[in-house]
Amino acid sequence: MSHDPVYVTRPFLPPLEELIPDFSNIWETRVLTNSGPYHTALEKALAEYLEVEYVSLFCNATIALVTALQALNVKGEVITTPYSFVATSHSLLWNNIQPVFADIDPVSLNLDPDAIERAITERTTAIMPVHCYGVPCDTDAIQKIADKYKLHVIYDAAHAFGVKRASGNLFAAGDISVLSFHATKVFNTLEGGAIICRTAEMKRHIDHLKNFGFVDEVTVVEAGINGKMNEIQAAIGLHQLNYLEEALCRRRLIDTQYRQAFSQVEGVTCMAACNESISNCAYFPVLIHDNYPVTRDALYALLREHNIFARRYFFPLISDFDMYRHLPSANPANLPVAGQIASKVLCLPIYPELSDEDLQRIITLVQNPSGEKK
Ligand SMILES: Cc1ncc(COP(=O)(O)O)c(C=O)c1O
Repeated sequence: MSHDPVYVTRPFLPPLEELIPDFSNIWETRVLTNSGPYHTALEKALAEYLEVEYVSLFCNATIALVTALQALNVKGEVITTPYSFVATSHSLLWNNIQPVFADIDPVSLNLDPDAIERAITERTTAIMPVHCYGVPCDTDAIQKIADKYKLHVIYDAAHAFGVKRASGNLFAAGDISVLSFHATKVFNTLEGGAIICRTAEMKRHIDHLKNFGFVDEVTVVEAGINGKMNEIQAAIGLHQLNYLEEALCRRRLIDTQYRQAFSQVEGVTCMAACNESISNCAYFPVLIHDNYPVTRDALYALLREHNIFARRYFFPLISDFDMYRHLPSANPANLPVAGQIASKVLCLPIYPELSDEDLQRIITLVQNPSGEKK
């Protein structure tokens, strides 16, 4: 029997009929963008949901990262992780900043604070860590280093929407956090993103930067960019928020079922559950070790043969791409843990509408990749 393709994720959307009245309103008023009423309402709703004061919406997280670096006037070298999506480091290149890769911690898969400290030079001005898969970085240790060496901290929190941490709001850490609302994310506005910052003054600055530097009709104060989110996206975001808890619940259920199913499978390990934070279950990465019956890539191919499209996030490492590999810090010898993890990781499908049948098919294939009758 052939099955429909199952991708690593499937964007969640609210029922179309709920959106139509808002779309009609936007058509009628012709307020399509430039900080309209839906944009204002979504910034407010997100600030409440995320329990932060200052949110600036963006067209996507990549432009938000580029803008965050501009807002803090970051130059020179920035220490970052090779184990992420390329946009993290690309935002540095777009600002003529040199990325300096540091190795990751083998448990959290986030930047290892000791490796950060070892990578600091006279040219270092900031740290750009990623809460990879939504797992919180060791923000206390990172802040200690930042304070000691007077560095900015910009968190790439693209994966972390909906993560709650007992020991204090994750998004209050550092100078700035950047969220992604891309179609594949836990909360999506088709494309979209946001910057969370700490002061009203910084929000004003960021809001100018995302609107070409305009302050009023005749005044441009800096060379800003067009980073604005439009009204259709903001309206969709407002509806998405109403379904968020339901979507997170379903993700957590799938996460639990995978964990139970793989607990006895030799050669497969799941990410350690983090005691002090509630996960958003944005991803379900597993590590495929040498004592598993087949290689990681063979399992990836086997799933594809069954129309299941798992992804090897994050392989290759960012530091292995052509525009980075010449950097001294990109040397694999500098990044042994990241290299190991990238060779073992496979992200399995997880999304609210993943059916029980498809979930079971994936579990069965991972439990028994050689297809032997047991
Ligand atoms: C860690 C990380 N940072 C940044 C981005 C870029 O986000 P966007 O697609 O919203 O530009 C992504 C993915 O999409 C990501 O996974």
